[in-house]
Amino acid sequence: MAVLLPGGAGYIGSHTAVELLNSGKEIVIIDNFSNSKPEVLDAIKKITGKNFKFYEMDYRDKEKLEKVFEENEIEAVINFAGYKAVGESVQKPLEYYDNNIQGALSLLETMKKFNVKKFIFSSSATVYGDPEIIPITEECKTGGTTNPYGTTKLFIEQILKDIYISDSSWDICILRYFNPVGAHESGLIGEEPQGIPNNLMPYIVRVAAGTLKELSVFGNDYPTPDGTGVRDYIHVVDLAKGHVLALNKLEKEEKGLYIYNLGTGTGYSVLDMVKAFEKATNKKVAYKIAERRAGDIATCYADPKKAEEELGWKANKTLEDMCRDSWNYINKK
Ligand code: NAD
Ligand code: UD1
Repeated sequence: MAVLLPGGAGYIGSHTAVELLNSGKEIVIIDNFSNSKPEVLDAIKKITGKNFKFYEMDYRDKEKLEKVFEENEIEAVINFAGYKAVGESVQKPLEYYDNNIQGALSLLETMKKFNVKKFIFSSSATVYGDPEIIPITEECKTGGTTNPYGTTKLFIEQILKDIYISDSSWDICILRYFNPVGAHESGLIGEEPQGIPNNLMPYIVRVAAGTLKELSVFGNDYPTPDGTGVRDYIHVVDLAKGHVLALNKLEKEEKGLYIYNLGTGTGYSVLDMVKAFEKATNKKVAYKIAERRAGDIATCYADPKKAEEELGWKANKTLEDMCRDSWNYINKK
């Protein structure tokens, strides 16, 4: 029995592949390398000393997907595939709705056909829009997404809820990630944004490396302790371990539709991140204060209690680990 990982060559998928293999699971990865490289597959094998099957394909291709299900005994699917750049999604909404939603539908339809009903979905804190309370619990209202990327997450969550209502033999887990950063401590896998990064940590890393001149801090007049935006940064290895525990729950406990926040429960500001990075790496991060970025909110961090109580999951890595490992990955390449 194997766990299918569409998008398993990507940032979060590759770290989850490592944790699954280390926990003794068999995996099958499918990816079209639209945002990753084949070398990642060798890196996963090198870190774990284990092998797995791989199919280079688009997860929207149902014919090929059916072949994967015919050739392998798939017990569950953890879907990482999809596009994730917020700004790009505003420019290319059709591509985002097609890849993210059509892809999810093609997977779910194939699963149904082969009677595979355990599904874990990579959602995002973005589904909470501008959160009504902080820290954010899973019961908080969702909606009010400000870009097509966020809306694809919201729609897929709704599709999953509807599927479960129609047939309670499905076993579904929606994981709402906060802000994943860091890399595997080996430095062999990590985040590889193409072009100029949009997210904070990859930008900081490139300023420290001298590839980019300075960080623009998007606004210092938010109602936060130092005026800059506050987020819940979570080490990608902690996040990956959350998937292994979510899968354990789907395997062991009664069927259901479960939703969990995966965050640390602590918020750090942009300037906290700059200082922590400088301290952890001994590198200077030049920055200037700039205008607020459209669509940004002041503060966003999780209440991760439910995941701790029901999955036995808790983020263990520190901010120092996140900064050091992000830096280590770039330097090892
Ligand atoms: P990523 O881009 O590194 O990984 C996605 C992988 O999917 C890539 O390897 C890409 O090549 C592959 N892919 C994309 N479209 C495909 C297709 N049509 N067929 C086959 N493969 C395809 O992204 P990530 O950071 O690892 O994110 C994984 C998931 O988690 C995504 O759904 C993302 O929206 C979600 N998420 C990410 C973050 C984050 O900050 N990284 C936060 C919240 C949620
Ligand atoms: C962004 C996405 C969110 C997605 C998440 C994935 C937006 C509006 N939201 O969240 O949908 O799920 O990434 O991790 O894009 N910052 C700077 N300078 C920079 C970059 C960022 O000051 O060059 C600030 C931002 O204003 C924010 C914080 O750093 O306060 C974190 O930004 P980012 O890493 O882009 O994540 P989010 O905005 O939380």
